[in-house]
Order: sequence, then structure tokens, then C-alpha cells
Amino acid sequence: MLNIKLIKKDFPVFKRRINGYPLVYLDSAATSQKPQEVIDALVDYYQNHNANVHRGIHTLGDESTKMYDSARQTVAEFIGAEGKQELIFVRNTTEAINLVAYAWGENNVGEGDEIILTEAEHHSNIVPWQLLADRKKAKLKFINVDQDGKLDLQDFRRKLSPRTKLVSVVHVSNFLGTINPIKEIAEIIKEQKTENNEQKTKSKKQDSLLLIPYPLLLVDGAQAVPHMPVNVKQLGCDFYAFSGHKMYGPMGIGCLWGKKKLLDEMPPFLTGGGTINTVDFHNTTFTDLPDKFEAGTPNVAGAAGLAAAVKYLKDIGMERIRQHEVELTEYALEKLKTQNSKFKIRIYGPEIPEWRGGLIAFTLEVNGKEVHGHDVAQILDSQGIAVRSGHHCVMPMHEKLGLAATTRVSFGIYNTKEDVDRLVEALKKIEEVFTG
Ligand code: ALA
Repeated sequence: MLNIKLIKKDFPVFKRRINGYPLVYLDSAATSQKPQEVIDALVDYYQNHNANVHRGIHTLGDESTKMYDSARQTVAEFIGAEGKQELIFVRNTTEAINLVAYAWGENNVGEGDEIILTEAEHHSNIVPWQLLADRKKAKLKFINVDQDGKLDLQDFRRKLSPRTKLVSVVHVSNFLGTINPIKEIAEIIKEQKTENNEQKTKSKKQDSLLLIPYPLLLVDGAQAVPHMPVNVKQLGCDFYAFSGHKMYGPMGIGCLWGKKKLLDEMPPFLTGGGTINTVDFHNTTFTDLPDKFEAGTPNVAGAAGLAAAVKYLKDIGMERIRQHEVELTEYALEKLKTQNSKFKIRIYGPEIPEWRGGLIAFTLEVNGKEVHGHDVAQILDSQGIAVRSGHHCVMPMHEKLGLAATTRVSFGIYNTKEDVDRLVEALKKIEEVFTG
């Protein structure tokens, strides 16, 4: 059993009172709070080691370079990468996906090719592909999400074709909470890869047998890495993207993991200092992984802070964190469904807590009229409770469900059952405001 009250003490923000109440933070899916260790790592870097990496031949430069390299090793090991070369530091999940859309997409997607996404993607895993598809005259397809918020894998099988170049799916939905069956998706893709290669063999185009067969699988893991054990090799994907700030690390640092063979074949995304081997007035040769993808001065403090966050998570244990969040979600689902108020609550996503990550989106109706999520969030904030309202950067899925906005509560390792009780109690004020 985790001692959450002790864990909460690691996060200085919980000393604050908001509008006269002790803070209840239920918005970790937007960004998590930071433990003292992470804040200390940032301060330590700037106070004691600040220097540019891979450049200066002086003690501070050497220390900074070692800290940056060691942070990469720590994060790479945490997600089960084969080596630290496979881990590219970027700003966030969005940048990681854009990197693939440009560096890989520009050279591998052509007219008539297909990219498959799910209906529940957030904008960062839709917009880069829409633009790529426009540039290349390629086609986007979306896997149906059913009434329970689960992916329809039969629909996926139907949509997959020899023209599919990439499948890009969210690991844990930041709106519905659904944990997608990545291993199963990877298995289905494998069948398509085998079929594609058999077709090539039959057509006797032996020379064009793909070294890296399509389709590839990209996973958006922003809402998974902070909340459950993730091993990219075991998942069977080709790319995995995530952000530091949602996993108790700093803002402005995130990661793209990719298979070395793939990353090696891709040209750089952003170019300039740090990415090169040689430059003359007309030509450039590029360096190896991971530097090839990290143009300009990197966010060394961010990397050190992220490594501190990983250490913090590992010390607690990802299995235990997942267990805690399942229990909390189960408790919250039950409490929300059975609360004794005049409003009607509608919860989105899977009913079963094991099928979902630690977040719950809902709408409220009072006297047959929906209360806008922003009103709910404001009334909760007036009682010291932070939640997110709106479309959570998932407009298409909201639209499919006929919703303008929802209210979302999302958990972190610092949340307790008492936080859920405070939420349920605070929701009563909505009834007062809208019926009184
Ligand atoms: N995509 C982030 C969220 O769900 C920002 O809130």
C-alpha cells in the first residue's frame, strides 16, 4: 500500500490554499505537479553545472554533457529502450509526433497511401497527419470507437490495407480514459506486414522487399508513461512519444523513442548546430543518433529534471502507482454515480476501472439542462479544486458524441480518496447554483 499522505508532502504546491481551501489537484492529465526532487534537480543544474553540452572543453561543459547523457540513459532504461541512441529529447509529445510526420512521413508517404488513426486522438495526433496527407495526397482513416469508449478492432482490420503506411494511436485516451490494446494492434499490423511481403515475393519484386515493412506503429504515450509500467519493446511499436511535464518532470522536455534502424534511415527534422558532422559552404553531412535529431542547444536542465522524475517514479514503483490509480478511479466512478444530488451525471469511457487510466470525463444536467463544463470547473475552483473543462484538445470525439464540452478529473500519485470526497461534496454547490 502506498502512503499517499507522505507522497503528497513531496509536492510543495500542496502547501497552498486556493480560494481559502487546501488545494485538490485533479488536472494531472493536463500537467502533473512536481516533487521537490525535480525542482531541486533544476535548481542544482543552474546553480552548479550550467554550461553548454558537447562543446566547451572545460569542467562545467563536461559535467553538463555527462548529466545530459546520463538523463538520456535513465529515461531510455525506464521505457525499456534497447539503447540510449533510440531516445530523442524533444519539447513534448506534440513535437515528437511532428518529428515523425516530417522526418519519416515526407520520405515514406506518397499519393494514395493511407494513415490510420483512432477517432479518440487528441489534436497533436491528428493535425500533423492531416497536413502530411494534404502535402502527399495521402488518405486518413479513423478506427471507430464504440459506445463504451473501446476501439473496434474489427473495424481496424477492415480499414488496414496494403496501402497503410502508418498506424498512430493513443495509448491512454486523455478524454475517454480508455487504455488501448497496443499489443493486439501491433499483432494485427504484423499480419498485414507479412501479407505485404508475401505479395512482393509473389510479384517477384525480390529486390523491393522492404527492409522495414509497413505499416509502422506510432504510440502516443503521454497519458500512459506516468501512470503504468511501459516497455516499448514488449508493446511491439515502432515509435513511442511522451512528455516530461505529465510525468512529474519539467515542462519543455519530452521524448521520442524509435527503433534504431528506423531513426538511422530518417533524415534530420530540424537542422543546424549539434546535428552535423561536417559543413562546407554548400554541403552538410549529419552526425549519428541521437544528436542528428537534436538541433541547437538542448534543454539540459529539463533532461536532468526528467531523470529526477523517473527516479522518483521508480522508487515508488510503476506497478504500485497503477494499482493506486485503479483503486482511486474505481472509488471515484462509484462515488460519482451514486452521489445524492438533483443533477444527472453522464460519465464517458469504459465502465471497468481496469480498462481505463486514472481520469474521468463527465457532463452534468440539472433540470434537463446541461451545465457547461466551464461553469462546473469554476464552481469547483471556488472551492479549491482544479479540474479541466472543455474539449481537452479532442474536438472530433466530442463532436462525434454530440458534446460541446465535458469536465475532466484526472489523478496523479498524490491524489487520495479524500480528494474524491471533496470533489463529490463540492459538486453539490452546482445543484445549489443551478436550482437555487
Ligand atoms: N492534452 C493535454 C490534456 O489532456 C493538454 O489536458
